[in-house]
Amino acid sequence: MQYQQGLATFPPDFLWGASTSAYQVEGGVEGTGKGRSIIDALTHPEGMADFNVASDHYNRFKEDVALFKELGLKAYRFSIAWSRIFPDGIGEVNPKGVEFYRNLIDELVKNEIEPIITLYHFDLPYALQKIGGWSSRETISAFEAYADFLLNLFSSKVTYWLTINEQNTMILHPGAIGTDPDYPMISKQALNQQSHHMFLAQAKVYQLIHQKYPMCKVGPAINTTSMYQATSRPEDAIAAHNWETIRCYGFLEVAVNGRYHPLAWRYMVDREIAPIITSEDESILQAIRPDFIAINYYSTATIAESKGDSSDISARAGDQQIMLGEPGVYRAADNPFLDTTPYGWVVDPVGLRLTLRKVYERYNLPILISENGMGAPDKLETDGRIYDFYRISFYHEHIKQMQLAITDGVKLIGYCPWSAIDLVSTHQGYAKRYGFIYVNRDDNSLKDLRRIKKESFFWYQNLIRKNGDIN
Ligand code: BG6
Repeated sequence: MQYQQGLATFPPDFLWGASTSAYQVEGGVEGTGKGRSIIDALTHPEGMADFNVASDHYNRFKEDVALFKELGLKAYRFSIAWSRIFPDGIGEVNPKGVEFYRNLIDELVKNEIEPIITLYHFDLPYALQKIGGWSSRETISAFEAYADFLLNLFSSKVTYWLTINEQNTMILHPGAIGTDPDYPMISKQALNQQSHHMFLAQAKVYQLIHQKYPMCKVGPAINTTSMYQATSRPEDAIAAHNWETIRCYGFLEVAVNGRYHPLAWRYMVDREIAPIITSEDESILQAIRPDFIAINYYSTATIAESKGDSSDISARAGDQQIMLGEPGVYRAADNPFLDTTPYGWVVDPVGLRLTLRKVYERYNLPILISENGMGAPDKLETDGRIYDFYRISFYHEHIKQMQLAITDGVKLIGYCPWSAIDLVSTHQGYAKRYGFIYVNRDDNSLKDLRRIKKESFFWYQNLIRKNGDIN
């Protein structure tokens, strides 16, 4: 739609922010009282960064927050490492961990940056994994106790709480991210059972927050996108709808409305991979809705009808954004109208507008974009600068589409691009950079970990100053 009366402006209290996650940025793994997480147990290919030092944010958070302030951030979305607080996932507390997050939050508040906390971003405490991880219902109560502990400490300083980052990525792509030590030996039914337990844990935290911490707001953070049909053949439209539902709305529907999406449920039942659900579970899921929805948006995918055999499975390496196909469900297709990043992720700003419209019309809840960004092998030039104009253009186009989505009527409350500062990618090392702030290290050497502002830093700073007035 084109608007005759001009575009809506971003609301004055719009949360211009940026994101990170604990294990990808903090380091501080040894000598800090932190317990091991499943991420600490991963092995890394030779020559690829591990997460031990990451960006050393654990030791340099004050310097980083000062840079965030200079950038003009109104919000900073970060996650808390569960095993830094409870080394065993439950029970004894690590006082140094509490102190670290208290100091970080205080530093943010002092600098008038709204802290937005993700409770759990891929790094389940290893001690819980040993007793079954998300396959066990014990993890549900452990998560609730962990959330209660943090809310008790920080609810007066932190309004926005995200429960679980990208549950759909953990369930559908555990191999790519390394979030399930049993993969590939784990069945899809077991993964869906884990997912069900995560939904329950999340619903318990919604309830906890609404009953005990009513000044706080809570929401899920699902990786959400739109699937295009490869041609105007109706069968392609059905396939695109199949996969969009199974990958995105199958998760959002339970997280927001507390019910399994009929198509996603039928898909699981047909394949005998549905979770076992009790009637008590159903009441827990239906008891309460979140206050807002956070979405992580990177790219769209294009989908064709399945041919029903193994030729549906693409030969390329898949991950959370690169679809592979599934016989009887969908086949991945290319989109001749869209470019990709150097890492093969489709760049689609208009798809963001479409996705925002779809999420808002379905759920009628405020939306926070909790991730969006472009991974690229940024280069530090001999003049000491990083000319990441491709990232500026990526953000420029996405923010234009956000403004259109707001004009369409979507209630968008904030934007937290990935990432505030360079960090270790989930599975592609340090060369794949996302930050507004460059960190002087690479996959093979920690160098001096110096912080350097990229061109995109100055661009975003200016954009925030003008409250997103892009033209
Ligand atoms: C999201 C995750 O899926 O994508 C982040 O929530 C991740 O943790 C981001 O870093 C970018 O993906 P990657 O694999 O390039 O690090």
